[in-house]
Amino acid sequence: MDSKNDSQKPATKRVAVLPGDGIGQEVIPQAVKVIRASGAPVEMVDFDWGADRYLRDGTTVPRDGFAMLGREFDAILVGAFGDPRVKTNIHAKEILLGMRFKMDLYANVRPVRLLDAVLCPLKGVEPKDVDFVVVRENTEGVYTDAGGVFKQGTPDEIATQEDINTRKGVERIIRYAFEYCRSHTKLDGSPRSKVLMCDKSNAMTHAGGLWQRVFKEVGGEYPQIAAQHMYVDALCMQVLRDPRQFDVIVTNNMFGDIITDLAAGLQGGLGMAASGNIHPGKTSMFEPVHGSAPPIAGKNIANPFGAILTAAMMLRHLGFTKEPDKIEAAVLEAVRQRKATQDIGGPLGTREAGEWVAMQVSL
Ligand code: NAI
Ligand code: MG
Repeated sequence: MDSKNDSQKPATKRVAVLPGDGIGQEVIPQAVKVIRASGAPVEMVDFDWGADRYLRDGTTVPRDGFAMLGREFDAILVGAFGDPRVKTNIHAKEILLGMRFKMDLYANVRPVRLLDAVLCPLKGVEPKDVDFVVVRENTEGVYTDAGGVFKQGTPDEIATQEDINTRKGVERIIRYAFEYCRSHTKLDGSPRSKVLMCDKSNAMTHAGGLWQRVFKEVGGEYPQIAAQHMYVDALCMQVLRDPRQFDVIVTNNMFGDIITDLAAGLQGGLGMAASGNIHPGKTSMFEPVHGSAPPIAGKNIANPFGAILTAAMMLRHLGFTKEPDKIEAAVLEAVRQRKATQDIGGPLGTREAGEWVAMQVSL
């Protein structure tokens, strides 16, 4: 897919690796190990952006950093950012939100898949029942940090947090969701067929109204795909009551953030969830859904599977198929055989679980 000449050897891809903070520094090396074991022709280059670097020399993003990533790499693999020593979280904001916003990675794609029934806290729910994807708008909404604080520290203090929704931004994410639905199948090979837009347009009428109008318009271009709608509060209840009904969900930045932590619960917790921050045709970034988990960092107990599944998602995005197939199959096998960390019922450490998957992938 990615090679333009007729040789069987696909072109080598270049990946920037940013483990970041906390458990990012433990799970990303496992993902890297598994990529190597898969034999995918990928050259990986490490970057030390994160709390340690910031505390050492004040750098969050080096000059020209994002432009360099875009110019020199085909994809970016990220761990997590957030460190209790940096109270303002400024480095995380500048690196992570900077990457999403400045590299315009507008589609945050978060697949929600249950690998094994034992991982799901719901009764009677099987892997075939949990196979949906959340497409989260990633560059606007309340996360632009527009707003301000006035009369701070007085009884008259006012804080505003603005919800930014542009016609262009809403349209491209909704179109991305329909295109995703059209071009992706479920794990069992059946076609995807529904796009559900989730908002709170009954209360947030201005932004919601724009989403509603655009969804109707864009949905009209895809008559073969069922267009559905749900308010975010109702959706949260339905995700727990009957996850079978969902296929592709499209929503704004904040609702997508919240829904995907909830949905991670269906998959066995945050340690199992993968994601991509994508702008078609541009250098895109892949990261596990979880954060840096400071309380468990440095103890070799963090689950590396979310990061490893993220690596598989990245390889698929880069045009590989055999290698991500092998990696996903190996993680599934690890879950089944409990070659896994404590959070999902296994006896292994982060490194040992990663090594088991790498060994399985290299067979
Ligand atoms: P978190 O995702 O780091 O942790 C939430 C809970 O899940 C904790 O109980 C943690 O122990 C557990 N957990 C997370 N990943 C796990 C794994 N791989 N294996 C086992 N257990 C796991 O979220 P939290 O606690 O809200 O934030 C911690 C720090 O991470 C903060 O500084 C926050 O700003 C940052 N953060 C960064 C994100 C990113 O870089 N994308 C996303 C979310 C939070
Ligand atoms: Mg989150």
